Amino acid sequence: MSLLLGVNIDHIATLRQARYALNPEAPIVEPSVLEGAREAVAGGADSITIHVREDRRHMQDEDARVIRREIDLPLNLEMANTSAMTDFACEIRPEFACIVPESREEITTEGGLDVTGNLDSLKVTIGRLHEAGIKVSLFIDPDPAQIKASAELGAEMIELHTGAYALTTGEENTAELARLRNGSQLGHDLGLQVNAGHGIHLDNLEGLFTVKHLAEFNIGHTLVARALFIGFRAAVAEMKEAVAGYSA
Ligand code: PXP
Repeated sequence: MSLLLGVNIDHIATLRQARYALNPEAPIVEPSVLEGAREAVAGGADSITIHVREDRRHMQDEDARVIRREIDLPLNLEMANTSAMTDFACEIRPEFACIVPESREEITTEGGLDVTGNLDSLKVTIGRLHEAGIKVSLFIDPDPAQIKASAELGAEMIELHTGAYALTTGEENTAELARLRNGSQLGHDLGLQVNAGHGIHLDNLEGLFTVKHLAEFNIGHTLVARALFIGFRAAVAEMKEAVAGYSA
């Protein structure tokens, strides 16, 4: 199966909030995240990702409701490991929930979710999401201990954090890529669906093509940045064409 493209539209909301956070009922409020999601669909997105953060810095609760109602693609809701966000996910019922770190205690040195350090609370959250019929992904570093713990907790998926790969060059970058390759192999061997995300760009995509067993890339920032110059639909279509070069 070809690699799927999950389009993260958070930064459309970031731009809207930069102007209208204090005036959400203004006669003109733009850009529209729903229009953004529709453009992503038209550009070939396989799923839509939104992160409703605890501080509501970009996506608002109503954005999630509207996208859930109006967009006919799988929704991936990124969320913190809290009971309030789990309540919200159970209300929205996305196809997938990706648990991401937001508070300092939940974060590893690299930046992924500290699964090994939060086993008890994650067990509760994952159990509740599963009861609501939501498949669970954990956004983690390509660290064997985190990957094994994710499998033991019964998550269906892991999303490997590609941020360190995206931020490095030379030997460091080669080492990060090797960690991603090993991590993906381990996740696959443990029966997990392996996705990847953060900092993925047209210019660093090819290295990731050497990481086998990936099912989906989740990409946001570069698509919104590129949209300023070529439009969002075209930016998504361009990325979709580029990711078609991946073979597992
Ligand atoms: N995956 C996860 C779990 C994320 O939180 C984000 C947003 O930071 C992304 C993927 C997309 O990253 P980017 O915006 O750098 O493409």
